[in-house]
Amino acid sequence: DGDVFKYYSEGEWKKSPSGKSVSIINPTTRKPQYKVQACTQQEVNKVMETAKIAQKQWAKTPLWKRAELLHKAAAILKEHKAPIADCLVKEIAKPAKDSVTEVVRSGDLISYCAEEGVRILGEGKFLVSDSFPGNERTKYCLTSKVPLGVVLAIPPFNYPVNLAVSKIGPALIAGNSLVLKPPTQGAVACLHMVHCFHLAGFPKGLISCVTGKGSEIGDFLTMHPGVNCISFTGGDTGIAISKKAGMIPLQMELGGKDACIVLEDADLDLVASNIIKGGFSYSGQRCTAVKVVLVMESVADTLVEKVKAKVAKLTVGSPEDDCDITPVVSESSANFIEGLVMDAKQKGATFCQSYKREGNLIWPLLLDNVQPDMRIAWEEPFGPILPVIRITSVEEGIHHCNASNFGLQGCIFTRDINKAMLISDAMETGTVQINSAPARGPDHFPFQGLKDSGIGSQGITNSINMMTKIKSTVINLP
Ligand code: G3P
Repeated sequence: DGDVFKYYSEGEWKKSPSGKSVSIINPTTRKPQYKVQACTQQEVNKVMETAKIAQKQWAKTPLWKRAELLHKAAAILKEHKAPIADCLVKEIAKPAKDSVTEVVRSGDLISYCAEEGVRILGEGKFLVSDSFPGNERTKYCLTSKVPLGVVLAIPPFNYPVNLAVSKIGPALIAGNSLVLKPPTQGAVACLHMVHCFHLAGFPKGLISCVTGKGSEIGDFLTMHPGVNCISFTGGDTGIAISKKAGMIPLQMELGGKDACIVLEDADLDLVASNIIKGGFSYSGQRCTAVKVVLVMESVADTLVEKVKAKVAKLTVGSPEDDCDITPVVSESSANFIEGLVMDAKQKGATFCQSYKREGNLIWPLLLDNVQPDMRIAWEEPFGPILPVIRITSVEEGIHHCNASNFGLQGCIFTRDINKAMLISDAMETGTVQINSAPARGPDHFPFQGLKDSGIGSQGITNSINMMTKIKSTVINLP
């Protein structure tokens, strides 16, 4: 069956003996766009076995050679940005320009991993024993960073390529092998990306990519005894994974409800443009999207008017036409978003625009006067719907932010840097942005969530460190 994309195992493109496939529905046309192999547990076992063998050799490959191969893969990926971006447009309805940006950013990320890796992995520590009470200077301790083994990478649909390479790059430079389980929407873009690693000439079995149904291979992968580390980005499946996973390091990034706190002295034009960028880019389908605006009552009317004027200018339509707002990823996602809107309507939120939906396409909507009893005050819509809560004190804003079960990022707008620092310290989130919308990048910055937003810290340097462990050798003098 020629039109089913093959999966990647042992350095080869293969068909699953199951003979089954999984359809990928184009969010815009709502028709099947591509098919991928429905791999079974048997194929997973094979991939794990070869990943383990390939890793041993790879760990012995000089670091500079590992870096060289990564640079090569980065260059090949950038050369193939057009066809990969085209998959993103069709699989996840990401606007055409943003799709290209995602691929280019991914190439840059891989190169940065190679550079960062040769520096931080090229250094170890040397310790002497006589600093600890009771010891003479008779023990010399040498430390270095060694790989964990097989890293399982599970990226989400919203950045299938970028959030895959943000795990692959650090894993490979650190001497690990990698098994990728792409999201169904975005799987074909991932397979193309993996092909760039194939073309770069990585050893057989070092990187593999298994596609298929989560219900069939999801738990089997995450609970597989061959896995030595899991790096997952996505929804609350991550919580289930962390409960079931064995005694292995986990890196999890599981969404957010990023608050935007607006003080009375803020530059409201700056706030409005950041709310638009932060709340509505990729139709709000980013874990770092602005998901609730907490604005001081005295400036709320002016801010809402400014945001409304900008919402009216957003283009709504297809990703091929590079519209600002494009169809959300699936019908079930659109239905979920609609549920939040209806709940807010019933409970009396002010609709700044009328609610409009056609298929999976939802028009951007600003909801003013949102109250804490509304679901939209707390839940993550992952769509172009943004609630505004009016506050009468900064403390109220901080309280709302901290009452969330999420704690990814947040932002504060004020001209008073001292106040901003105090609020930042009080906000229980992994990152606070002052005078800009939340964002993960630049990709070497630390990126982490508190509470249900995740485990561990990402960003290139942190990921490389997380995917290694310290090995020490102690020389004992007579
Ligand atoms: O939603 C995933 C998260 O990593 C967002 O990244 O670059 O849009 O801030 P970014």
